Amino acid sequence: MTKDNASPKETVTLINNSTGKSTEFPLLSGSVGPKVADIRSLYASQDIFTYDPGYMSTGSCKSAITYIDGDAGVLLHRGYAISDLAEHGDYLEVAYAILKGELPNTAQKAKFVKDITNHSMVHEQINFFFRGFRRDSHPMAVLCGVVGAMAAFYHDSIDINDPHHRMIASYRLIAKMPTVVAWTYKYAMGQPFIYPRNNLGYAENFLHMMFATPCEEYKVSPVLARAMDRILVLHADHEQNASTSTVRLAGSSGANPFACIAAGIASLWGPAHGGANEAVLAMLHEIGSVDRIPEYIAKAKDKDDPFRLMGFGHRVYKNYDPRAKIMQKTCHDVLNELGVHDEPLLKLAMELERIALSDPYFVERKLFPNVDFYSGIIFRAMGIPTSMFTSLFALARTVGWIAQWNEMLTDPDQKIGRPRQLYVGAPPRDYVPLHKRA
Ligand code: CMC
Repeated sequence: MTKDNASPKETVTLINNSTGKSTEFPLLSGSVGPKVADIRSLYASQDIFTYDPGYMSTGSCKSAITYIDGDAGVLLHRGYAISDLAEHGDYLEVAYAILKGELPNTAQKAKFVKDITNHSMVHEQINFFFRGFRRDSHPMAVLCGVVGAMAAFYHDSIDINDPHHRMIASYRLIAKMPTVVAWTYKYAMGQPFIYPRNNLGYAENFLHMMFATPCEEYKVSPVLARAMDRILVLHADHEQNASTSTVRLAGSSGANPFACIAAGIASLWGPAHGGANEAVLAMLHEIGSVDRIPEYIAKAKDKDDPFRLMGFGHRVYKNYDPRAKIMQKTCHDVLNELGVHDEPLLKLAMELERIALSDPYFVERKLFPNVDFYSGIIFRAMGIPTSMFTSLFALARTVGWIAQWNEMLTDPDQKIGRPRQLYVGAPPRDYVPLHKRA
């Protein structure tokens, strides 16, 4: 932290009861949210490390991008409530704010949209790179590989010390991600890749690349395009979650942006993180009917059963995830547009939510539906296969990852990320020659 975040009066004192040594640490104040103890001098002053697996109480950086109050169910990007951004903004406008700090004015927005649109095509050689993958690969495996390989195709923008290079790489990632994600789908389907169309909006273009074929005209429904755009807004950034922290940690060594985003994609894939949207749908299929819900609620509560209600619970939100509320409404909009008035999975999801929210186990632990609970039902209704769900999350989150990466590289306090540990292995001992070992 820079000195201006520190209040000269506020400190916390740590007294080591064994040695009697006491050290005062500055308390830093953010613009909103809890104070943060600056313990950087702890090891030097007390010869002590902190132990905080899962970073339950550890701030790993300072950031001006996203603020979450998990108890109140608040999510702000650059100070703007997610509900306002989702209702009144669009994805590229929100992306601009996340990347640059302020919502764009009319001219800035027009230029940003034009610049992103102009970068949407990928190097033609990437077309052939795809062909090295098995067609039955998981799209996240392909996405991870292709995005990592972009450093080989765009090595003219990987000087991380050059702000212009950083911005070009950021634009390229935001612009090309829809193309790469849509192509992972086309590749799995054995259909020809569909090239981006610069007269379409960002979400509209993505749906076009997913569902058009060379054989016939494909008209993107404005309601579905708007819904997709809103889903992208809802996933655009989420503070220092696992994948974002992975991007930051990878980037802290000076790794190139494409490698860092590939690392973020790999982290996102896990079922406790972005893989949950896929897992929610698998779970709803497994439950199958409303009368089996109690059986699954009981499994989720059983400590001897590893089963968890997917799409429920969050490390930070101990209240309704504000994104889940908007997602639920979007789900109804999409199903109405598609004329699906009796989607059994939606009925099942709503009943599961109703029962879980009144069950003391979930109430006491403050386990509410999260962003992934309804997104899968929307994607499925749009015709997007389950295996693609997490790739869509990655597409939306790319702007958050790259903005956090840029922010980290311009932070004067930036250092290579290097946590310490509590060593519990063997103490020093003598090497025993092989022939003398039992
Ligand atoms: N079903 C049943 N019990 C749960 C669940 C759940 N989904 N989530 C948490 N619990 C219980 C857990 O067993 C523990 O109980 P106890 O105190 O009796 O031991 C308590 O609630 C606290 O759980 P925790 O694992 O300590 O909480 P965490 O903050 O480490 O985990 C989480 C957060 C999201 C990994 C977890 O809630 C979970 O696995 N949820 C299901 C997966 C999911 O939906 N993930 C998407 C997260 S939102 C999108 C994203 O970030 O990518």
